[in-house]
Amino acid sequence: MVADYRSVESDILIIGAGGAGMRAAIAAGEKGARVIVATKSLLGKAHTVMAEGGIAASIADVDSKDSWEVHFADTIVEGAYLSNWRMAEMLAKEAPERVYELERYGAVFDRTEDGRIMQRAFGGHTYRRLCHVGDKTGLELIRTMEDQVLHRNIEFMAEVFVTKLLVSQGRFAGAVAIDFKSGEFLLFKAKAVIIATGGCGRIYKVTSNSWESTGDGLGLAYNAGCELKDMEMIQFHPTGMVWPPGVKGLLVTESVRGEGGILLNAKGERFMLRYSPEKKELDARDVVARAIYHEIQNGNGTAHGAVYLDISHMGADFIKRKLPGMYSQFMQFAGIDITKQMMEVAPTVHYQMGGINVDPETAATRVRGIYAAGEVASGLHGGNRLGGNSLADILVFGKRAGEAAGDYVRSVEQAGIDGAEVRAEIDRVGAFLNSSGTNPYILVDRLTAAMTEHVGIIREEKSLGKALAEVLELRKLYAKVGVQGELKYNKGLLAALELDGMLIAAEAVVRGAIMRKESRGAHARSDYPKKDPSWKKNIIASKSADSSMSFRTEPVPELPDRLKGLVKPEVY
Ligand code: FUM
Repeated sequence: MVADYRSVESDILIIGAGGAGMRAAIAAGEKGARVIVATKSLLGKAHTVMAEGGIAASIADVDSKDSWEVHFADTIVEGAYLSNWRMAEMLAKEAPERVYELERYGAVFDRTEDGRIMQRAFGGHTYRRLCHVGDKTGLELIRTMEDQVLHRNIEFMAEVFVTKLLVSQGRFAGAVAIDFKSGEFLLFKAKAVIIATGGCGRIYKVTSNSWESTGDGLGLAYNAGCELKDMEMIQFHPTGMVWPPGVKGLLVTESVRGEGGILLNAKGERFMLRYSPEKKELDARDVVARAIYHEIQNGNGTAHGAVYLDISHMGADFIKRKLPGMYSQFMQFAGIDITKQMMEVAPTVHYQMGGINVDPETAATRVRGIYAAGEVASGLHGGNRLGGNSLADILVFGKRAGEAAGDYVRSVEQAGIDGAEVRAEIDRVGAFLNSSGTNPYILVDRLTAAMTEHVGIIREEKSLGKALAEVLELRKLYAKVGVQGELKYNKGLLAALELDGMLIAAEAVVRGAIMRKESRGAHARSDYPKKDPSWKKNIIASKSADSSMSFRTEPVPELPDRLKGLVKPEVY
C-alpha cells in the first residue's frame, strides 16, 4: 500500500459531532484555539437525539423545592454510590446555566402557562426536573448547537473515521484517519484531541443506539494508553419497541411514563405496583427494566415477548402535544395509534455508564493532550444513569473539556510525529482491502449475538464465561478480516475498522462483569444477588505491554464532609 496522505492542521481535533463534541468545540473556539471537528457520520446526525425526554436541571420552574443539592443526591443514589462525587456536584450545579445558555443559543423549550420552562417527571428524580421540547429534546439540542457552531470559526469534516491516535513521548501528537468522501488518508496534526464519540450500544443486537455507537473512542483511547472505567455498567432502558422486528430496540421515551403512562403485563396487571409500590413506573431504569424482564420470563409477556405501555387514558390532544414523536413513531412503524391502543415494549440497551477514565474537573485522561467528554467518558453516572442526566452531562463536561484543552494547547508546542508510525498505520488499514479474509459483518453478528445472550439484564458466571470465550475467539479471527473495494465510501472497511473498538469495549464489559461479584445498579448477577460493601470500587481496564487487557480496582472516592449530609447513607 502506498503511504500517501494529506496533512490537516489545527490546535485541537474533536472526534464526534454530537452534543459533547459540539459544546467542546464552542468552548475551545472561545479560548482562541483552531478547532476541527471530525465525525464518521454527518453533521446533525448524532445519537444525542435519542435522549428524547429532556435535560435534567434543577431550575425549579415547576417544583419550587428543587435544588442542585437534591439533584446531586439523586445522581449519587441512582448511580449506586459508584459515581465520582465531584462530577455529580459539578453536573448538579452547572446544568441550570447550561439550560439557560441553550435557550440563549436558540432552543425553544416547552413552557408553563405563565411562561416558565416546563419540566417533567422522570424515574429516580425527586422532583419534576426535565426541561424538554415535547419528546424531541435531543434533536432540539443538536439543532441549536449545530446552528451555533456553523456560525463560529470551527471546521467540520464529515464521513471521516479516525483509526489511530498518535502519542509521542507520553503526549498526544496527532491522528491518522480516512476521509471516506475523497478516499484518502489524513494525518491530523494537533496538540490536543477531545474524544466525544458516544457509547458502544452497538455491541448488542437489541439497542436504542444508532449505527454510530460502536465504541470507536473507547478503542482509540485504550490503544493510546488511556484507561477505561466501570465498563460492566450497561444501561437497559426499560422501554424499547419490539414489533415489527425491523424496529426492535428503538427507544420508547421515558416521557411516556413521565406523562402518566402505565405498564401492564399480558394479564392486564399493573405489575409495577408489586415491584415498586411507591415509585411504580417512575422508579430507576434498572428497577423497571428488571421488573419487565421478570414479567416476560415468568410467562406474563405478550406473544412478541413484551409488556404493554398504555397512555391512551390521557387523551388524544394531550398525547399528540406532549409526545408527538411517539405518536408518529408507533403510527408509522407499527400501525398503532397510541391515543387509542397500547404499545408493546421491552428493555433495550441504551447507554454505557462507564468509559474513558477522566479527571473530573478537566476531562483530561492520563495521556497528556487526550480529553474525553460525554457518554464515552466515565465517572459521573457510576452504576446507573438518571434519565436526562446525559444531555446535562454532554453540555457541562463538553464545555469543561473544550476549555481545558483550549488552555492546554496554549502552553505546548505541536509534538513531533513519527512518519514510520503513520505509514505503519496506513499499511495496517490497507491490509484489510482486497483481501479474501473473513467478512467483518459475520464477526459483528456473532459478537452482538453473544453479548445479547450472555451479558444481558441478569448475568451469571457461566454465561459470562461463554461471552468471554466468544469475544476472545473473535479477537483472533479479527486478524483475518478482509474486505473488497477501495477506500472511498467503503462500508465494509468501516465495519472492519469499527470492529476493533467493539471488541475492546465488549472485552472490558464482560471481564468487568465477571470481576464484579455482586449486584449493584445496572449490573445484576443471579449468582451474587446482593450488593457487597467490599465492591464499592471502580473497575479500571488498560492495555498491558503484551497487548492483553489488565485490570485494577480503586475505592470510590469518599464524599467530603460538606456533601455527606445531602445523601442518604448507602444501605446493604
Ligand atoms: O427516555 C428517554 O427519553 C431517554 C432519555 C435519556 O436517556 O436521557
